[in-house]
Amino acid sequence: MIYIKNLSDHQDKTVTLKGWIYNSRSSKAIHFLEVRDGTGICQCIVAADNVTDEVFEATGTLKQESSFEITGKVVKDDRSIGGYELHASDVKVIQVAENYPITPKDHGVEFLMENRHLWLRSQRQWAAMQVRNTIQFAIHRFFQQEGFIQMDAPIFTGNAAEGTTTLFETDYFDEKAYLTQSGQLYGEAMAMAHGKIYTFGPTFRAEKSKTRRHLTEFWMIEPEMAFYDLEMNMDLAEKMLKFIVNAALEENKSELEILERDTEYLKKAASNEFKRISYTDAVEQLKSDETAAMLDKMEEDRNTELSDIKNELEEIKKEHGSAKKWRKAQIDQRIKEIHARVDQIEEDLRNIPVWKESAANFEWGNDFGGSDETILTMQYDTPVLVHRYPAEVKAFYMKRDPENEKLALALDVLAPEGFGEIIGGSVREDELDLLKKRIAEHDLPEDLFSWYLDLRRYGSVPHAGFGLGLERTVAWICGLSHVRETIPFPRMLGRLRP
Ligand code: 4AD
Ligand code: MG
Repeated sequence: MIYIKNLSDHQDKTVTLKGWIYNSRSSKAIHFLEVRDGTGICQCIVAADNVTDEVFEATGTLKQESSFEITGKVVKDDRSIGGYELHASDVKVIQVAENYPITPKDHGVEFLMENRHLWLRSQRQWAAMQVRNTIQFAIHRFFQQEGFIQMDAPIFTGNAAEGTTTLFETDYFDEKAYLTQSGQLYGEAMAMAHGKIYTFGPTFRAEKSKTRRHLTEFWMIEPEMAFYDLEMNMDLAEKMLKFIVNAALEENKSELEILERDTEYLKKAASNEFKRISYTDAVEQLKSDETAAMLDKMEEDRNTELSDIKNELEEIKKEHGSAKKWRKAQIDQRIKEIHARVDQIEEDLRNIPVWKESAANFEWGNDFGGSDETILTMQYDTPVLVHRYPAEVKAFYMKRDPENEKLALALDVLAPEGFGEIIGGSVREDELDLLKKRIAEHDLPEDLFSWYLDLRRYGSVPHAGFGLGLERTVAWICGLSHVRETIPFPRMLGRLRP
């Protein structure tokens, strides 16, 4: 089999591609087919002069997403997507598709989600999944070369790891079981056996929140390391993220282009040192005059932009009536872009007052909400490591800061440009008595944790780890505003099918 992504190896040769029609247009004597084969898109030219009449006619009736084989010569053409064209000598139809529901025109996101099984074929969705794959593989490469071994945590569990309010309960032969929220507690047991391990698996949260950052089923990567302290944990998180971003930049140039990702930010993340700030300093920053001024400026900029593009819209709408066909197409495209941008700006303008209020009224001791993270990370162009959170808002297993009992030796990594938390982690409480006390303070049943407490009975050592959310990482690297486009079949509040 020959694939579109390898066409450069076959210049001037005759090859056969197998795929689907992504888009097509015809003139009297030529059909222009955009063919996708899963590895990319290639323009194929079927000229009446070069194929039999039957083939020419049959090709003309093929609708979007019909499947077929096409044979032809590979011709270099820099103007063409992918840089190569196929000049066809034969076409064999495999299946003539029915009217395809997803057309190049605009569709609402609910409609696209209902058709997720088909939407996956669209170019932007395709690109995002290609990047996801790169990230997944890069994560494995990174940990393997750092001397970690992958170990899998169970998905059915008998106890909570991250708080009891977001557990999915199931019936396990008349016993209560939960879908795991995190593999961490098992990760700790495995790290005591192997030193440095990572898990890579699905995790579940019965989050009743409908935000752009929340899925009910998501994939988490959780390294856990014996003898690591907070500093070492942060170093590892930074090194890992740089490795992943580099992989995406190197391997997904064209995909990031399709996604219209501004890669300047990614390049900075790949090479610049990440800022490290304490929670306390982050709170101060959030409440600062600079933050308020930034939001005022943002509001002003958005308003200016809004009136500018609304003017532009009026102008080109006037022009549309008398424009030539090619120009009309250009104007239609621009109108679509403007509508999308207006939606975005209007959303920002609705959000900014809420953000301002939330930032100004933030109190030390609270956990950052989505909007606080958005504001904080708009002020950075690389990920930022926030450490030492108030223990009260964090999980029971986190070790306290020996210099301040109120603080947990926790770290979160917030992705820049408003994306927010992608990593959460900590040093773990390694003293038996203190851990028992925390379990009681969190109203957790000690008997369910007896196995976990054993880790503090037999050769307890300082240890630490973190969890990276795969979908939020893909969203940030791809520049996607909502996690629903970062996983093949998202599971969210109100979304179980397809
Ligand atoms: O911060 P979290 O809850 O941390 C843990 O679960 C720890 N046990 C990890 C550890 O130390 N081993 O979750 C870790 C990450 C978050 O930073 C976020 O990226 C992702 O998991 N995450 C979600 N992603 C999508 N949808 C959700 N509902 C998520 N909840 C957490
Ligand atoms: Mg967290």
